[in-house]
Amino acid sequence: MIKDKQVLSLINKERARQFETINLIASENYSSIDVREAESSFFINKYAEGYPHKRYYSGCEYVDDIEDLAIERCKELFNVKFANVQPHSGSQANMAVYFALIKPKDKVLSLGLDNGGHLTHGSEVNFSGQLFNFSHYTVNENGVLDYEQILSIARRVKPKIIVAGYSAYPRNIDFKKFREIADLTGAYLLSDISHISGLVASKLHPDPFKYSHVVTSTTHKTLRGPRGAIIMSNDSSIFESVQKSVFPGVQGGPLVNVIASKAIAFRESNSDSFRKYSENIISNARYLADALIARGFSVVSSGTDNHLFVLDLSNFNITGKDAQNLLESCNINVSKSLIPNDKNKPWIASGIRLGTPAVTSRGLGIKEMEIIADFIYSIINSRKNINTQKVSKEVINFIKQFPILDHYE
Ligand SMILES: Cc1ncc(COP(=O)(O)O)c(C=O)c1O
Repeated sequence: MIKDKQVLSLINKERARQFETINLIASENYSSIDVREAESSFFINKYAEGYPHKRYYSGCEYVDDIEDLAIERCKELFNVKFANVQPHSGSQANMAVYFALIKPKDKVLSLGLDNGGHLTHGSEVNFSGQLFNFSHYTVNENGVLDYEQILSIARRVKPKIIVAGYSAYPRNIDFKKFREIADLTGAYLLSDISHISGLVASKLHPDPFKYSHVVTSTTHKTLRGPRGAIIMSNDSSIFESVQKSVFPGVQGGPLVNVIASKAIAFRESNSDSFRKYSENIISNARYLADALIARGFSVVSSGTDNHLFVLDLSNFNITGKDAQNLLESCNINVSKSLIPNDKNKPWIASGIRLGTPAVTSRGLGIKEMEIIADFIYSIINSRKNINTQKVSKEVINFIKQFPILDHYE
């Protein structure tokens, strides 16, 4: 038990907040107690610069074993030849790949932040956009990738890397087409599956590994592990560069306690129950999108193939920022999100992104998606005379029926 009363009190408040909130943030989830406890294990104390059996520090025999175990489980889960389990975050994983494959000022082609890409895919406020020369493809007027457009930009720009994989894209990604485009234009294909890795592991999303030179992923979204990331490849020489790029290139000592948690998460997600869970994530997302469309909302790309979708709020006359704040005041968490060709800046935005990984972990199903759609509709539609305290209580009474589980069967 933590003795520091101030910190303990904040931890308990956060725990209560999570229990009493409908969490529709597409990038969040509830990890198991095993994942959380491994993070606070004695591995937290250990320095282990280097890789298994080639460390700069002594006393690494069990560290080597735990990292070997995490690597083996990761490779088995994704059916891939090589895996680096050390990246502290998705951003550092992407940074390590760029530094492994290209030089500053080299050209990269990706989907921009305003169309559903991530900051590390070339945003001007991020190291990626500042160090490398990014061009962006876009989604079309239906909010869907246009592979002809991507090929034509790639032919013109001749990027060294093409990035596939996004933060707010609701449709399946055709990695085969991306690889054809990369091959035609002499580029590497980097697939960033941070959002969809749990669905990929469950074989509910087309496989990126067959077609990508290198794949990055966070471990804490649909994969339901600890906060952190991994880099994978089937190409030995690319992987060798990635290894050097992670350490000593962009990181020092790995977080061995987090590597232990990753090992647990890779095993948890390599199971029939996890595959069933992933199926439920997708059916919940589809059902919730349809239920909101039935209540008059417009959904970018008219639906979803995965765990998330973006509501275009223009016809409800409210910005993404205001909708996020309003829903938060009623104990519902969503993320404001830009919509294609958004006239608002990212901080304001015209849409909200909703995802179902976290609520599905609590056991909510399609019946409950109907109730959530009703909450969202009535909160946004009657916002001028809403009693947020009263609605909050209703939301809490609803969501408290679904505990956050310690173990997943
Ligand atoms: C597609 C994608 N890549 C990378 C990241 C970065 O992950 P992190 O927040 O761990 O740096 C995210 C996070 O949201 C993401 O959505």
